[in-house]
Amino acid sequence: MGGPASDLSPGDRFDIERLQASLQTRAFGRVLHYRPSTASTNADALAYLQQPPGTAEPHGLVILTDRQTAGRGRRGRTWHSPPQGNLYLSVVVVPRQGAKGMVPWLTWVPLLSALAGADCLSDQAGFTVSVKWPNDLLVNDKKIGGILCEQTTTAQNATAIVIGIGLNINAALDSFPEGLRAGATTLATEAQRPFDRVPLLADLLLRLEQRIDRLFLDGPAGMAKEFAQRCSTVGQTVRVSLEQDHFVEGIAESIGPDGCLRLRVTSGTAQVQPGALLEVRGAEVVHLRGCNQNPA
Ligand code: BTN
Repeated sequence: MGGPASDLSPGDRFDIERLQASLQTRAFGRVLHYRPSTASTNADALAYLQQPPGTAEPHGLVILTDRQTAGRGRRGRTWHSPPQGNLYLSVVVVPRQGAKGMVPWLTWVPLLSALAGADCLSDQAGFTVSVKWPNDLLVNDKKIGGILCEQTTTAQNATAIVIGIGLNINAALDSFPEGLRAGATTLATEAQRPFDRVPLLADLLLRLEQRIDRLFLDGPAGMAKEFAQRCSTVGQTVRVSLEQDHFVEGIAESIGPDGCLRLRVTSGTAQVQPGALLEVRGAEVVHLRGCNQNPA
C-alpha cells in the first residue's frame, strides 16, 4: 500500500478531521483509512477483507486517497487518478448475516451507488449529473465519475462488496491523458469554480448509506423508477455489444426489477430480432444520439 506522494501539495491533502466532524452516517466512513497515495483503494479494500478478523466491523469501512497509481476501471481499464482534488474511495458493504434473500438484489448495489453519486453532485453543483446505465456519471454526455463494484468472500466467509467510486472534482482537465480529455469533465470545469470535497464526501456517504440500508431492509421496490428518472440512457437510442463483433441497436425503454436495461430492438442479429424486448445485463452500452464520448 502507499506510493509516491511527493507531488501532493499540502492543499491537495484531504482534510480527514473536518470530514469526521461533518459525517452524518451511522456506519459509512466511521472507520476510515486515509492514505495520501495508493495503487488502488479497491485493491486495498479487497486485501483488507482477506485479513484475519480485526476489532472493527468492516461494514461501512472507507478507504480514501488523494491519488492512485494503478486506479482500476471497469472491464480491466485503468482509472486515471491524478492528485489535485478529485475523490477516489472504496466503501465496504457487508450484507447482514441472514440477509440471504438480499443476494439476488446485490445487482442493485452498483446502480444505487451511481444514483447516490449523481444526486450528490447534482445537488452540490446545481446542475444535472445523470447516470449512463449501469453506473457512469455524466454531465452533458461527458464522464465525470465512475463506479467499480467488486464482490468477494471475506476471511470470515461473508459476502462483501467493495464499492469503488472515482469522481472528477477539481483536477485540471489538462492533467488527463489527451485521449481521455474530449470525453471527460470535472465538476470544477462545468461549474467554473473549485469545490470543497469535505461536504461533498460527507453528503455522498450519507446518500449511499441511505440507499444501501433501504435495499437491505426493504428490497428494491421503487428503485427502478427512481433510477430511470436519473438515467440518461432511458429514452435514448443505444448500441449494445453482446459479444465480440455482435451489436444490437434499439431504444432503451425502461429499467427492470433487477436493474437490467430493457431495450426495444430496432436492428438486431439472427438471434435477436427487431421488435424484441431485450433485457441487457453486464454489457457495453453506447448512446447513439448526442455526442457521448464515454468508451466505458
Ligand atoms: C469506471 O471504469 O467507470 C469505474 C471507475 C472506478 C474508479 C474508482 S477510483 C476508487 C476505486 N479504486 C479503484 O481502483 N477504482 C475505483
